[in-house]
Amino acid sequence: MKIVVIGGAGFIGSAFVRELNKRAIKPLVVDLLTYAGREENLRGTDHEFIRADVRSDEIHEIIKGYSPEVVINFAAETHVDRSIYKPQDFITTNVLGTVNLLEASRKFGFNYVHISTDEVYGEECGDEESPLRPSSPYSASKASADLFVKAYVRTYGIKAILVRPSNNYGPRQFPEKLIPKAIIRTLLGMHVPVYGDGKAERDWIYVEDTARIIYEVMERAKWRGEAYNIPGGQRYNVLDVMRMLGEVMGKEVKIKFVSDRPGHDRRYCMTTSLKYEVTPIKEGLRKTYEWYLNNKWWWEPLIGDKFFVEDEPWVASRS
Ligand SMILES: NC(=O)c1ccc[n+]([C@@H]2O[C@H](COP(=O)([O-])OP(=O)(O)OC[C@H]3O[C@@H](n4cnc5c(N)ncnc54)[C@H](O)[C@@H]3O)[C@@H](O)[C@H]2O)c1
Repeated sequence: MKIVVIGGAGFIGSAFVRELNKRAIKPLVVDLLTYAGREENLRGTDHEFIRADVRSDEIHEIIKGYSPEVVINFAAETHVDRSIYKPQDFITTNVLGTVNLLEASRKFGFNYVHISTDEVYGEECGDEESPLRPSSPYSASKASADLFVKAYVRTYGIKAILVRPSNNYGPRQFPEKLIPKAIIRTLLGMHVPVYGDGKAERDWIYVEDTARIIYEVMERAKWRGEAYNIPGGQRYNVLDVMRMLGEVMGKEVKIKFVSDRPGHDRRYCMTTSLKYEVTPIKEGLRKTYEWYLNNKWWWEPLIGDKFFVEDEPWVASRS
């Protein structure tokens, strides 16, 4: 299969490249390498690489030259906190970048896999047909992109699907996100900032499971704009996750409660029409911890203020 992985140098995208390699597929990775995207994430994988912006005309030239059967899009601004401080890039990359790929699909006729998120459903539990109720600028940008995908399928007849994973964790996740932040800060003897009362519930899935399930979805997709939810089915609040992490690390995870994130969704709880097995959370947390413990070279260069937005508790409360 000839496949282009946009955003393949990020956390889930690079796990998906590894999944393709397991299946003897060598993809073309296209990524802008923003603060979250790093060539280190692709170390040891078999791929071609082009640095480019999903919003650019260059993307059309790249796709035209490569003639892929499938284009999968992981490229996005992904941190909810950053979307609250500065939403603009979320709109250009997540919405206009997607529309740029949809235009390319009209011209070149590939099958388009759009990576969305459970956050588009908001706090209401529901299935793949549930209404979209985004709360943050991040989830609003993701929901907007999803609507454009559906509109392009209906209006222009392009072939596309939407894939909505829940909260991912695992190796190579940028340390602004909860689990790597908690692991690294605990390894450094620092406290972990927790929003509000720490009872916000998320549905956790190990990143290698997500990568495998996305591939399985591609194999059975109808390409008519339908959505496939990928929940981990393991719903725990932040305090539960910190407790389990402490057990796995054999160290106390010191929590410091900080003021809640504005508009913070209390929970995500989508269901799915798919059938699959996932890694139990304790095992996934253990694998994740071991990876960060054994790969300090990966995260030590990131411990600098320039990698984190100013109001991020990671920086503000560093002592
Ligand atoms: N991480 C999660 O828990 C989670 C859950 C559900 C859905 N998702 C979705 O999965 C996708 C991947 O998420 P992730 O956690 O791997 O994100 P990430 O932030 O680790 O990676 C995003 C990647 O996109 C690239 N990128 C950003 N802007 C770009 C641009 N303008 N042009 C080209 N490349 C650009 C970055 O360089 C990076 O490699 C996103 O669409 C996200 O919304 C993530």
